[in-house]
Amino acid sequence: MSVQTLSREQAAGKVMVALDYPDAASAEKLLAALEGIPCYMKVGMQLFYAAGPDFVRSLKQRGYKVFLDVKMHDIPNTVKGGANSVTRLGVDMFNVHAAGGRDMMEAAMDGVDEALDADSTLARPTVIAVTQLTSTSLEMLNDEIGILGTMEEAVKRYALLAIASGLDGVVASPHEVTLVKDFCGPTFQTVTPGIRPAGVDIGDQSRVMTPSEALQAGTDYMVIGRPITKAADPRAAIESIIEELIKP
Ligand code: C5P
Repeated sequence: MSVQTLSREQAAGKVMVALDYPDAASAEKLLAALEGIPCYMKVGMQLFYAAGPDFVRSLKQRGYKVFLDVKMHDIPNTVKGGANSVTRLGVDMFNVHAAGGRDMMEAAMDGVDEALDADSTLARPTVIAVTQLTSTSLEMLNDEIGILGTMEEAVKRYALLAIASGLDGVVASPHEVTLVKDFCGPTFQTVTPGIRPAGVDIGDQSRVMTPSEALQAGTDYMVIGRPITKAADPRAAIESIIEELIKP
């Protein structure tokens, strides 16, 4: 894969900062430090369950793109309703578990479409499937979840099911990007956690890549949490990541 040349804005837009905080006040401290940097903000279940739609609206009012990482997984009718609500909220991206099956993923897309039909001012969010969580080991996959075969086979099956259901991409390990792009096509989007700049603590992630390696592998968006949020100087940390993406 050839290395892309990115402007500062394009590079910043590929970085999804994981706002893994217990409440809005804690997240606001990081937002103050990163003010003016046009990165994507990822709101997961910890912050969303505490700070709710109002916090997402306030990010949108400040001009941020928002990935709502709530990994919906329920009966199709309920996921359709959830997808409808988050589309009306104005998120730019959200995700569902591919394990919910084709009917559930199609219902999510129906929920999005119904929201757009009802309000033409809304933009269509990007809908992403979770294939296998990066915390799932092969042993867990085979012995606990009951899916036989390799991790690659499981990821491939779910990615193909997601594309057949009309979704736009998958969350994947940066090590799976080439595999996903090979069988789902180059425009099928990949969102990759497990990114660690050189010299930064790996923490509980196992198979990591640096930002420039992930870019080279073809990832569309990289989710980065602790290397920014726990840095002594979060602004310097994200600036250095952006710099690395501009000059990989
Ligand atoms: O701090 P760190 O960079 O490891 O944060 C990674 C973020 O990506 C966290 O918000 C985590 O929930 C999320 N994530 C992940 N692995 C997945 C899916 C999401 O690490 N498979």
